[in-house]
Amino acid sequence: MMLKDKIAIVTGGRQGIGQGIALALAQEGCRVVVSDLDQADCQKVVTEIEKMGGEALAVKCDVSKKAEIDDLIAQTLKKFGRLDIMINNAGIFPFQAFADLNEEDWDKVLNINLKSVFLGSQAAAKVMPNGGRIVSTSSVAASLGFSGLTHYCASKGGVSAFTRALALELADRQITVNAVAPGATDTPGINQGLDEQAKKQTVAAIPLHRLATPDDIAQTVVFLASDKAAYITGQTIVVDGGWMLR
Ligand SMILES: NC(=O)c1ccc[n+]([C@@H]2O[C@H](COP(=O)([O-])OP(=O)(O)OC[C@H]3O[C@@H](n4cnc5c(N)ncnc54)[C@H](O)[C@@H]3O)[C@@H](O)[C@H]2O)c1
Repeated sequence: MMLKDKIAIVTGGRQGIGQGIALALAQEGCRVVVSDLDQADCQKVVTEIEKMGGEALAVKCDVSKKAEIDDLIAQTLKKFGRLDIMINNAGIFPFQAFADLNEEDWDKVLNINLKSVFLGSQAAAKVMPNGGRIVSTSSVAASLGFSGLTHYCASKGGVSAFTRALALELADRQITVNAVAPGATDTPGINQGLDEQAKKQTVAAIPLHRLATPDDIAQTVVFLASDKAAYITGQTIVVDGGWMLR
């Protein structure tokens, strides 16, 4: 019970890595606000947490909109009275050739993947007690190049750079700011982007010979959110089965 009585928000929490994070936080005794675009899907994750004996709340929120982020924080405070841990996880990764990208495509990815991290971190930091935790989901794409993902790579590079800078600004309050950089992870999102053949090729390039599970990523997030990681800040921790070593 590393996170007993802590209160956390997880964005993009209805499926995939976010769902894994919500469940893993709850397993450590944390009360979790599960947030995503669809209230009913969030409620399913809440029900799963309640079945485990935990406590959770479902809140619909589009992370690219400041008013909705503010409402997410307000609903969290109303229900639980506090916010200790902010997990900025929501993100999209639409494969689009650079030549075909238009301004709208670019803005959509940057708004959902990067502006959201600014909005979520700022709103959370305003109400967090000293010693709070901010953890964002970056990607190996912050450091590697992927064809068809110029906007995505730019957004995730931004998440890791933002994380380093914000860590300095919040250090006086003992709030740590970190990111996790998953490699290829088996989620509904990746299944939309990669067909079976592409997945096989990806697995062949991963030294540990498998995709990550959402729980592989979630366990690192739990650690970063806990007291055990109190002296780690500004870092992006890669969880990729050794993929980047190649
Ligand atoms: N799956 C991977 O291989 C992988 C690798 C590296 C990084 N990531 C990152 O992990 C995070 C989660 O990805 P995933 O694989 O679980 O994807 P996913 O598509 O399965 O889940 C992402 C969730 O984010 C939500 N979301 C999208 N736009 C939103 C918005 N505007 N407001 C609120 N929620 C929104 C979706 O509804 C969805 O539930 C993303 O930030 C992604 O970039 C994933």
